[in-house]
Amino acid sequence: MTNKPSKPIMLFDCKTSQNVIGRDKFLKAFEKILDHGAYCQGPETKELDEKLAQYCGSKFCSTCGSGTDALTLALMAWNVKPGDAVFVSSFTFVASAEAPVLLGATPIFVDSDPNTFNMDPKDLQRAIDEVKKEGKLHLKAVIPVDIFGSPCDYDEIIKIAHDNGMKVLADSCQAFGSVYKGKRAGNIADMTATSFYPTKPLGGFGDGGATFSNTNEENELVKSCRVHGMSPEDHYDNVRLGMTGRMNSFQGAVLLQKLTILDQELKDRFRVASRYDNELDSYFGKQKILDNCKSAYALYTVTCNDRDELMAYLKENGIPCGAYYPRPVNTQTAYAKWNTRNVPVCEKLSKTALSIPMTPYLDNEDLDYIINTMNAFAAKKNSKAA
Ligand SMILES: Cc1ncc(COP(=O)(O)O)c(C=O)c1O
Repeated sequence: MTNKPSKPIMLFDCKTSQNVIGRDKFLKAFEKILDHGAYCQGPETKELDEKLAQYCGSKFCSTCGSGTDALTLALMAWNVKPGDAVFVSSFTFVASAEAPVLLGATPIFVDSDPNTFNMDPKDLQRAIDEVKKEGKLHLKAVIPVDIFGSPCDYDEIIKIAHDNGMKVLADSCQAFGSVYKGKRAGNIADMTATSFYPTKPLGGFGDGGATFSNTNEENELVKSCRVHGMSPEDHYDNVRLGMTGRMNSFQGAVLLQKLTILDQELKDRFRVASRYDNELDSYFGKQKILDNCKSAYALYTVTCNDRDELMAYLKENGIPCGAYYPRPVNTQTAYAKWNTRNVPVCEKLSKTALSIPMTPYLDNEDLDYIINTMNAFAAKKNSKAA
């Protein structure tokens, strides 16, 4: 077996980029903020709005406090309210469902495709038919999630949603930098939410997020809702309900710096994923990335029937890993009331999915060790089965 690298292997790496960019650049940018004193939504976040919109080719971007804020603000712009049905992937981080619930809407959980792990368009259609048949809720919006950074089947999902009079809010919180058939996340669905939590492909030094839209009207509503529903004409008149959803200028400055190395980091994530794709034993199932699409590889996730045993074995061997997500959102305590549909693929994924180290800074020594250690586990299992 390959020797264990002398340095620790990381599941995520939120720090190395500080040195790649240079600490002095961050410190200089922070000093500028101390000088101008506009700590919230200062010139840094305004510049970031423009650069992010430009990066993904969408007309408008509004930065905000977190990915959860971004999801909630987009739904606020669409006036999502009690009585509305919002169809959401069940195999996701809780925030995808939390946002519609916070606004009083009813989340309808949709199962995953067993290959892509993303929202299954066929189950979306089934769920819509069920809600229509019951006739109690107003069909409002669909939230597909680009799980682990990999784009959903947007052509199908958008068609089904639009045919049923609904809009699509892409939860690309894990997928900034991903590409769907030539379009970057942020410019695919009607609106998009992303997160800049430190472990994300474009990670800040704290919480942050952004919404993307191609209409000025939606963007103006987001901008108003992120400051308590403030009127753009009269700052002392709040014309709708909103929240404190602003991004602070320090986070804006960090993300402007991080954006300068995003493409190189994405290339390196791709390099790591290619080695896993090509060299990990077929004992492990691999997430299928749709044709003509690129994942942003927030995480690299395999499936394995002995997931918990594999997880323990990797940890024993100094390889950090994580089960994302061990409990489908619909089965979690706060969501029990809305656990109305069967999502068998999601349930299986919650028992079999395991995310292994994925950072742009894994080198060949790390990768040789991870791949050989995992393949040794597979060899043991394969020989037992033979
Ligand atoms: C799929 C998904 N949606 C939403 C969020 C929420 O983002 P944040 O933590 O920035 O609020 C996350 C963050 O982990 C996520 O992974």
